[in-house]
Amino acid sequence: MLNKTMQQESLRNFLLSVLERCDKGTFEHSIRVGKICEKLALELGYRKPQVSYITLAGLLHDVGKVFMTEMVNYPRTLEDKERYMISYHPQLGIRFISINWTDLPSEVNEGIILHHERLNGSGYPNNLTAVDITMTARIVAVADVFDAMSTKRPYRAALSKYDILRELSSPGYDQNVVYQLINKKNNIFESFTQNQF
Ligand SMILES: [Fe+2]
Repeated sequence: MLNKTMQQESLRNFLLSVLERCDKGTFEHSIRVGKICEKLALELGYRKPQVSYITLAGLLHDVGKVFMTEMVNYPRTLEDKERYMISYHPQLGIRFISINWTDLPSEVNEGIILHHERLNGSGYPNNLTAVDITMTARIVAVADVFDAMSTKRPYRAALSKYDILRELSSPGYDQNVVYQLINKKNNIFESFTQNQF
């Protein structure tokens, strides 16, 4: 009989293996985002079990994309209706996960479902604002955008350091989290972009 920690570990590995089989690019992105989230959480002063929850939210934030892998990887700019469908991947991901993982910690759930919302209300799918966006979601958002912009995608090259900093300095992101990302002492920005620029 598996204990609870082992059950959760095997569910996590199962979900990641589904993602790896369906969409290698999103799988690799998710692994990096999980690592960046873990480092950010530690620099922000979180301890166990919150660090594990934030890391898990980073690892699983895009698992809903397994239902739309072809569209996610189109080597072209998406049409409006395609963008609209993709905007529901956080909700699809949570539904998929909750089929087997009924006691998923609320921090993980919120980190996944809110990772595209922005503090100034410019995010999706619900245009929430800062008061509704948890710290886990704020951390996943910064890690997600940083990794997405600093790596090559099927439809574009990796973006410049200047472009990444310009995006992350906008009011949509928690600037305390961004500060931990770019603080040279923490060596997060440099170590995760060293092969990109
Ligand atoms: Fe996403």
